[in-house]
Amino acid sequence: MSELPYFAACPKHVELLLKDELLSLGATDAKEALAGVHFDATVDVVLRVVMWSRLANRVMRVLSSAACRNQKDLYQAVSDINWFQTVNQLPKTLAIRFNGTNRELKNTHFSSQVCKDAICDQLDADYGKRPKVVKADGHLSVSARLKNNEITVFQDLTGHSLHQRGYRSENTLAPLKENLAAAILMRSGWPEAAQNNHNLIDPMCGSGTLLLEGWLMACDMAPNHELKSHALFTWKPFNAHDWTNLQQEAEERAKVGMELFRGQIIGVDHHKASVALANENLSQLLHNKRISFNYQTLDKFRIPPRNNLVVCNPPYGVRLQKNHLSSWQQLSHWLGEKAPGAEAAILTPDAAKGWMVGFRENKQYALKNGALDVQLRLFSISKKNRLSVPEGQYFALPSGAQPLANRLKKRLSELKPWSVAHGIQAYRLYDADMPEFAFAIDRYQSHVVVAGCSGYRWSGRYTGPALQSH
Ligand SMILES: C[S@@+](CC[C@H](N)C(=O)[O-])C[C@H]1O[C@@H](n2cnc3c(N)ncnc32)[C@H](O)[C@@H]1O
Repeated sequence: MSELPYFAACPKHVELLLKDELLSLGATDAKEALAGVHFDATVDVVLRVVMWSRLANRVMRVLSSAACRNQKDLYQAVSDINWFQTVNQLPKTLAIRFNGTNRELKNTHFSSQVCKDAICDQLDADYGKRPKVVKADGHLSVSARLKNNEITVFQDLTGHSLHQRGYRSENTLAPLKENLAAAILMRSGWPEAAQNNHNLIDPMCGSGTLLLEGWLMACDMAPNHELKSHALFTWKPFNAHDWTNLQQEAEERAKVGMELFRGQIIGVDHHKASVALANENLSQLLHNKRISFNYQTLDKFRIPPRNNLVVCNPPYGVRLQKNHLSSWQQLSHWLGEKAPGAEAAILTPDAAKGWMVGFRENKQYALKNGALDVQLRLFSISKKNRLSVPEGQYFALPSGAQPLANRLKKRLSELKPWSVAHGIQAYRLYDADMPEFAFAIDRYQSHVVVAGCSGYRWSGRYTGPALQSH
């Protein structure tokens, strides 16, 4: 466990960006860990981090760390903390989040009850009052993590995740979390492009998260200016006067930022309800005519002639849209036709979708969208970078994989008359014919199973655009 007194949690793979952000906000030391960064800072800086961090989920104060094998150790470790020292008044409500298990503490709900008992027993003994237990944002919000038989107890200083900025309606379908959107924009170079008054474009904007975060960055607006949090306001060192000063400073900066930004932020989507949500979300923020969301199909969508950063999170087909592949094809076509000269940052769920974008990639970053592993791929849109797609194929493959695709297309066209004539829908399509691709591929209707020499390797749904014969 780090000696540093604070921990800011963030999505996995965002740690390095968060570390830079914390240092730029005034943290005096910062060390990245899994899904977060330990840091040191004055109380003023901690409040600044809460108001200005675009990347953190939570900001927490480390209260203690102790060996913990069982219920007794856990109760003792939590009782050893002087809880009245953490808050500026007797807390009316208490929220506890518990993560982790060990051999004896197998149930996180039970472990959180043990923590609750330890805290309430102490406050009851000293002050004759027990706080009411709530799910989130208690006046005292506690987070505890059990790992390798060590319990670390934190005071959660905001009580809820800071990705909830407060501008977004909860009815949104498949939205990105706001802090993930901010990380995507940072990796795409938007903060620098915005300083140069470039444009930010999302041709599949959904409820607009990428562009709304882009707007906050471009106009130097604090993401958590409107934060409402029992947990923060009852934190012992919290000073309402300092918080109000920070709010006033943020309001000034936003006014200046809105004046200075001269780019355009434009989102379109072919789903009317999503555009309505994006506009509703926008209405919760200070804004002007430099940001707009419109209902439009891609074939009609034109963007300014230069200085465009296209950022986009097309559908993956996991939660939304069965025919999602056509969206990727349309995006690829639109980029080639309507966005020459643009830089593009596209969030993809796998390499094949990256190939479908149809341009040589400059860079790739791993990210997590909820539980899904995704990649942010950066492209420069130009004729020179266009990948040429072989006849009868949906997208360009890396050159090493093309011979296999050619072989599979040939085998499919040879086998098709036979499989149709006999009504056979399960057959071996490929049997390690090429030494560099030493595995077998069996087709079962719309699925394929790929098995290597060392046994079963991979099986997945056959969506087959690269394999279909025409
Ligand atoms: C994963 S969602 C984007 C979510 C968005 N980033 C947010 O945070 O709300 C993908 C969006 O792409 C849109 N879309 C898919 N194909 C499209 C097309 N051909 N033209 C315009 N929008 C499209 C869908 O309507 C959907 O809103």
